[in-house]
Amino acid sequence: MRGVTMHDADLRGFASDNYSGVHPEILAALAAANGGHQVSYGGDVYTERLQEVCRRHFGPEARAYPVLTGTGANVLALQAACDRWAAVICAESAHLHVDEGGAPEKVAGLKLLTVPALDGKLTIDAIRREARDFDDEHRAQPQVISLAQGTELGTVYTPDEIRAIAEFGHARNMLVHLDGARLANAAAHLGLPLRALTTDAGVDVLSLGGTKNGMLLGEAVVILNPAAGRGVHRLRKSSMQLASKMRFISAQLLALFEGDLWLRNATHANTMATLLHERIRGLPGLDVLYPVQMNAVFVSLPEPASAVLHQQFHFYDWAGSGTQARWMTSFDTTPGDIRNLSAAVAKALKQ
Ligand SMILES: Cc1ncc(COP(=O)(O)O)c(C=O)c1O
Repeated sequence: MRGVTMHDADLRGFASDNYSGVHPEILAALAAANGGHQVSYGGDVYTERLQEVCRRHFGPEARAYPVLTGTGANVLALQAACDRWAAVICAESAHLHVDEGGAPEKVAGLKLLTVPALDGKLTIDAIRREARDFDDEHRAQPQVISLAQGTELGTVYTPDEIRAIAEFGHARNMLVHLDGARLANAAAHLGLPLRALTTDAGVDVLSLGGTKNGMLLGEAVVILNPAAGRGVHRLRKSSMQLASKMRFISAQLLALFEGDLWLRNATHANTMATLLHERIRGLPGLDVLYPVQMNAVFVSLPEPASAVLHQQFHFYDWAGSGTQARWMTSFDTTPGDIRNLSAAVAKALKQ
């Protein structure tokens, strides 16, 4: 099987931005990091350089801890920011709550206090429902507010919205975690540096995404406020997120964040979603459910049309129903892919 491509490399789906392969510049960075020996477990030159790059993006206090998966990043970040008796306030649609197999509860032993978030974004009114009873010994103590930027519903917080949540939380001794699996897409949408949505907006600890933006695999926990990083290096090991050949995760993160690849990839993916939105909005029978602000388009459509489309493209039904779909774009989605999908959508709706 060596060297044999076992799939159609021209086939692109719309299920997730992690259906894509690896960006060629990342593959080149992996090849360049190969050969010779380097100190394992993060003592390598790539991981050291990554610290400099993270300080440039997030400020002088930032410290990066490369990890294997986004779930691992979230669970590690929350453990580092929380006491053992803590609870985390998050949106009911949060990936943490819905799609991490209960890892925050199982691995970190944390209680999640979920609140409604209609368009995926937490509001202070919603957070207030659970940010209470801090002296009650019977209640898991809310110590962290976790928000995703961009959200699981494809929406994006403004820096002012994040700052207001951080100020609310900090005034109650809570820290702020940002699930930035798609931070690059949010920054590209807003035309702002990463720092404006994190450090400068009061975020204490960040899960910085890589896989969904062109890496082979890998993310990083970035501690922005040292108070949110207690024992993080020990917790990374005990949470099984300490990669021995860490140079290969760090080399990918460097390729993404040292120059502007993070922004080029995210801007392209966002542009493809905007193009899809422009081509399908207004089609009879289809409604776009949320503002299209990054690389996802959520729609409602008749079940038979969805079934026809499922025969042609990979995509996820949303909210457990055949009448809602999520279409995601990636760094390698082409305008031709968007033309194919939008033409198929228009045809399926007419049947
Ligand atoms: C918002 C968000 N956070 C975290 C993750 C977790 O990533 P992983 O699948 O690498 O654990 C995902 C993956 O879909 C995600 O969408």
